[in-house]
Amino acid sequence: MIKALENFDLVIFGGDGDLSLRKIIPAVINRIKDGQIKSQSKVVVASISSYTTKSFITYMKDKMLEYGIKIDQSAFSELITMISYVNLDLTISSNYQALYKALEKSPNPQTIFYYSTPSKLFDVISKHLFENKLINDVTKIVLEKPLGSNLKSFEKLNKQVRKYFREDQIYRIDHYLGKETVQNLMVLRFANHLYELAWNAQNIDNVQITVAESIGVESRKEFYDSYGALKDMIQNHLLQLLCLVAMEPPSSLTADNVRNEKLKVLQSLRPYKANEISSLTVKGQYTRGEVDSKFVNSYQEDIETYESNTETFVALRTYIDNWRWAGVPFYLRTGKRMPARYSEIVINFKRVAHNLFPSRNKIDRNKLIIRLQPEERIELVQMVKLPGPGGYRYKPISLELDYGGSFSKKFPEAYERLLIDVVRGNQTLFMHEDEVRASWEWIHSITDNWDKTEQELELYKAGSDGPGNKVLKPSHYWHQSKAFGNEEIVV
Ligand code: BG6
Repeated sequence: MIKALENFDLVIFGGDGDLSLRKIIPAVINRIKDGQIKSQSKVVVASISSYTTKSFITYMKDKMLEYGIKIDQSAFSELITMISYVNLDLTISSNYQALYKALEKSPNPQTIFYYSTPSKLFDVISKHLFENKLINDVTKIVLEKPLGSNLKSFEKLNKQVRKYFREDQIYRIDHYLGKETVQNLMVLRFANHLYELAWNAQNIDNVQITVAESIGVESRKEFYDSYGALKDMIQNHLLQLLCLVAMEPPSSLTADNVRNEKLKVLQSLRPYKANEISSLTVKGQYTRGEVDSKFVNSYQEDIETYESNTETFVALRTYIDNWRWAGVPFYLRTGKRMPARYSEIVINFKRVAHNLFPSRNKIDRNKLIIRLQPEERIELVQMVKLPGPGGYRYKPISLELDYGGSFSKKFPEAYERLLIDVVRGNQTLFMHEDEVRASWEWIHSITDNWDKTEQELELYKAGSDGPGNKVLKPSHYWHQSKAFGNEEIVV
């Protein structure tokens, strides 16, 4: 039985935008459907477009249909009774009076302001909320990434927001942390004796984290071109995954304890030096090619500028300089226009110390594969004997746990879980300012050295596995779970 939440008011700035219509509002609808959000809560969509509440509802409905979002009709009807649209220019303080009016009579104890806007507006929104007396002790704000574009811009933005809000009122969202499989990482590691015993440099050879997407830059040309894959994906999502894989067991599950452990990982990441950057990192950009048997344009064609040096692919090898992980390479890879959409974490264990079997072939490594998407699955790859006489023949076979399929209920979307956590005041799955700071510091050692050494941008065909160099060549380290199953090592 899901417990209903205390009623609240949710204001979504930029609420008529893509993120809101694809993720935030559908998350509210799903939680209404499960009875967790009651109709006494309010949803206020605030934006500069001149909708009325009625015309916004029509627009929202059409967009959700266009995006193919499946919504429960009765929950949607309930949402309509809770939603209102406020037309305001976020940069004009007096405009916030309309918001004040929309909220003033609400009996709900807490207001959550969701900043689904470019981060350059975070300062001005916070200031105007303050000037219009819309902030109190229990107000919370949710900040969407990107949080700045480097350490300096993050510090500036953070300082401005912190003028008006305490750290415990700020929820910096990284939707990867809301994914069920990502949270399952904590349980997998800390509720299974066997894994925790093996989770160190003595037993693990390398760790590979891949987030591959088959989509291109879609409608976000300008934004993406000023960011690139390193800042769009590695700085947040992949580093957060790395933290969960590598952190020490926290002494308890409180937000501070978990976030402190993640912070220590980020602070232990080895910064890059100019003389090694080209052998430890690869950046690439897609050219024309084929994805899902369909011809697709090059990145330059997609963004229509024809002279961009922005990377749409990054692969890198990094090290965590602490006792647990000394000498263990962590490979991070992400790219757009890859052959398929998949995200996975692969823990490659060391080979057995001695091969007892009279073979020229190596015994394959044990691997723990945590597949995050498109399907949620955990595989433990181990060597088994092929049945039959004639000596020992063996091959790697997976013990598979269909994580998604093992439960009758569909997993909630990441945004649903995160929204509920904001209402409940649980910051565990949100980034502390120190984590963001540490990740930008480390990212700086990459961007700075890419600039200093004028590192080459390698082109790759859309639909291929991306570029690679001697050290980071795909075949050298990328795990392809489908491919190895047929390998047979004959003694
Ligand atoms: C976003 C990035 O944060 O994550 C996008 O800005 C990317 O470029 C997206 O496509 C991927 O999220 P998911 O949940 O689809 O893997």
